[in-house]
Amino acid sequence: MGFLQNKRILIVGVASDRSIAWGIAEAMHEQGAELAFTYQNEKLQDRVTKLAASVDSELVFPCDVSSDAEIESVFTELGKHWTDGIDGIVHAVAYAPRDELSGSFVDNTTREGFRSAHEISAYSFVALAHHGRDMLRQRQGALLTLTYLGGERALPNYNVMGAAKASLESSTRYMAADLGPEGIRVNAVSAGPIRTLAAAGIDNFKQMMTFNEQASPLRKNVSTSEVGNVGAFLCSDLASGVTGEIIHADAGFHAVALSGAEL
Ligand SMILES: NC(=O)c1ccc[n+]([C@@H]2O[C@H](COP(=O)([O-])OP(=O)(O)OC[C@H]3O[C@@H](n4cnc5c(N)ncnc54)[C@H](O)[C@@H]3O)[C@@H](O)[C@H]2O)c1
Repeated sequence: MGFLQNKRILIVGVASDRSIAWGIAEAMHEQGAELAFTYQNEKLQDRVTKLAASVDSELVFPCDVSSDAEIESVFTELGKHWTDGIDGIVHAVAYAPRDELSGSFVDNTTREGFRSAHEISAYSFVALAHHGRDMLRQRQGALLTLTYLGGERALPNYNVMGAAKASLESSTRYMAADLGPEGIRVNAVSAGPIRTLAAAGIDNFKQMMTFNEQASPLRKNVSTSEVGNVGAFLCSDLASGVTGEIIHADAGFHAVALSGAEL
């Protein structure tokens, strides 16, 4: 029996089978979870519907997280199928204007870019918690988000997304404090670089991956399934004592300043 048997989890952020959200979905499915999915827009509807079917899910809803009405409607619709609540919500969503993910942070960051990066990448996690709170409370559920080292330290080109990830990580702690008394846990996985659609927007991403591979203690880049397993654990009862936590799944890169190979 898997450690997510009888758990019902909503996954927000699948765009393709390379998405980190998909790695999490597969890991959760392997552990017995029942899953529901959202897709950002019509362009992604077919692909997400097919992927959902491959893990035995017919629960697929539209949700652009910039719309409170769409977020609310996901939980209204989901509540018709999962009438006694939800065990988890996975938030694996990020956006920043592409031309603000390169060069000078100070010169290239616009007021609108800063606003939209924070709204889509950080506020949307709070909004999902707000609209999902009643369903989560019923089953003492868990919230999970995805972050990156660029929220803790300055890295080339990550720029405004780093500021948004810092906001997301802080929100994770505030949400944990707010929702903990209701038995709801809130955690994040800080994943190492993985080639996905979102990552393609970051300038010199390939070089970042090469450096991560050479400098990390495990001398490799992580896979979506390695990140997925950590996400599955955090949303399970095995992590019932863990909240407000940010776990790095990055082959240990965050823990070192130099790999040794440079000396
Ligand atoms: N790929 C990496 O190297 C890496 C590393 C650490 C953290 N992360 C984080 O993992 C998460 C998932 O990204 P990914 O790398 O799997 O890329 P991805 O492109 O597969 O997923 C990003 C998702 O965000 C969704 N999204 C963007 N704007 C949206 C909106 N307005 N409404 C609804 N959905 C929207 C997209 O539809 C897509 O499903 C992001 O938060 C990302 O920052 C990625």
